[in-house]
Amino acid sequence: MQQVNIGMIGGGTVGSGVVHHLQHNGTLMASRLGVGLKLAKVAVKAFDEPRPYDIPRALMTTDWKEVVHDPAIQVIVELVGGTGLAKDMVVTALKLGKPVITANKALLSAHGEELFNAAKAGGTNLYYEASVAGGIPIIKAIREAFVGNRFTHLYGIVNGTCNYILSRMKQEGADFADVLADAQKQGYAETPPDLDIDGFDAKHKTGILASLAHGFWVDPKRIYVEGIRHISKLDMQFAEQLGYTIKLLGIVKRAEGKRPKAENGSRIQVSVYPALIPNAHVLASVNGVFNAVFVRGDVVGDTLFYGRGAGKDATASAVLSDLADAALDLVHGSHGRVPPFVPHERAGTVVPIGEVVSRYYVRLSVIDRPGVIAKIAAILGAAKIGIASIIQPEGHEGGSVPLTLMIHDAPNATMQKALAKIARLPVVKAPPVMIRVESFA
Ligand code: NDP
Ligand code: HSE
Repeated sequence: MQQVNIGMIGGGTVGSGVVHHLQHNGTLMASRLGVGLKLAKVAVKAFDEPRPYDIPRALMTTDWKEVVHDPAIQVIVELVGGTGLAKDMVVTALKLGKPVITANKALLSAHGEELFNAAKAGGTNLYYEASVAGGIPIIKAIREAFVGNRFTHLYGIVNGTCNYILSRMKQEGADFADVLADAQKQGYAETPPDLDIDGFDAKHKTGILASLAHGFWVDPKRIYVEGIRHISKLDMQFAEQLGYTIKLLGIVKRAEGKRPKAENGSRIQVSVYPALIPNAHVLASVNGVFNAVFVRGDVVGDTLFYGRGAGKDATASAVLSDLADAALDLVHGSHGRVPPFVPHERAGTVVPIGEVVSRYYVRLSVIDRPGVIAKIAAILGAAKIGIASIIQPEGHEGGSVPLTLMIHDAPNATMQKALAKIARLPVVKAPPVMIRVESFA
């Protein structure tokens, strides 16, 4: 049986998971593929760092260049993370004509096009299934399984850490900081975890999915992002009473309305923000570290992908799948059969968030006095923003009470402007909380 030699850089959460599962399932994979996968070297930063799974010392080096430049090593796996040194590692390997597998969504988001070009120039390929939604094969699904579809809607719960935090806050009333510490212990969170909780990791992943689905590389600067730091237990409780669950969503939607003359190609919304989603929607029951991606194609209709979105084992599963593809491409000389990204629609536009129309949940802290609601309603009315419902729970003591409004469809810019006016009313005692409501229309 032919054998492919693998060199890995990074032996932490994901890297040690790959080593472990290759040791256990490598023979099974070889029998399925007809090609053997041999892990030849693993570069780490320091030999004695604690790792979720042991890596045989004989395989280890602290010099990544030794791995990349070893002429016997045919495939490089980058599991270091970050956009600095990791980029050098990937580019060096691609220039040497070696296929690279990476789970590094931050790197792809920042330098994807450059890396794809480097792969092409090196006559090789770049594989990145593990970069989005952990163990869920969503890259393959969008790029290959749904190649005959145009995509109208894609909604993703794509950050395991945030979903873990939001689920435990809702289910157990747990504190944000405690649950985040747990997510870090489990190996779900990025370093630093701000990448997760401020929405940037989800932004990287949503950008990759949007680019694949719509065929132009989405500039990450055009993606609107909001994290989950401001989500409080109080808002979770109000959302629950109203029949909703709060989730951090990556949204890729074809924009409605006419395309301006100056623009070509698709107009799409690409954004990441926490949203109230109806409890009856299937995404509302995706809990813990699980991810889910809902994809609507014009041929296939609605589809849903569900699985663990982070962690050493689920992510290793995606890396193993890329290893299989890379090995088969190598032995069959077919590295260009499925290119990493083809910009099939060279021009496309990401619609600014101000133009995006959505529904809203708004919580105000107001003085409980006659005429307050009238003042707020007047500002919204003047902006042509409709109120769907108002709730002011009884029994709140003290100078101010929460006032919760559900707002009909309105453009984000119009809503923000009206909220800024409301915030300036003397009867409003704290900055308003606004969370978008996703109705999946
Ligand atoms: P870890 O921090 O657990 O592991 C990073 C690894 O890189 C460590 O083994 C570290 O060595 C090694 N490393 C750091 N600097 C160097 C260097 N200069 N030379 C050689 N090795 C180096 O990260 P994760 O495993 O969690 O993440 C790896 C990648 O996978 C990231 O891009 C991440 O975004 C992505 N990812 C992570 C997921 C997860 O659930 N954790 C899920 C999906 C993707 P040492 O062990 O000695 O410190
Ligand atoms: N930090 C990421 C998450 C890892 O929590 O989803 C998986 O990409």
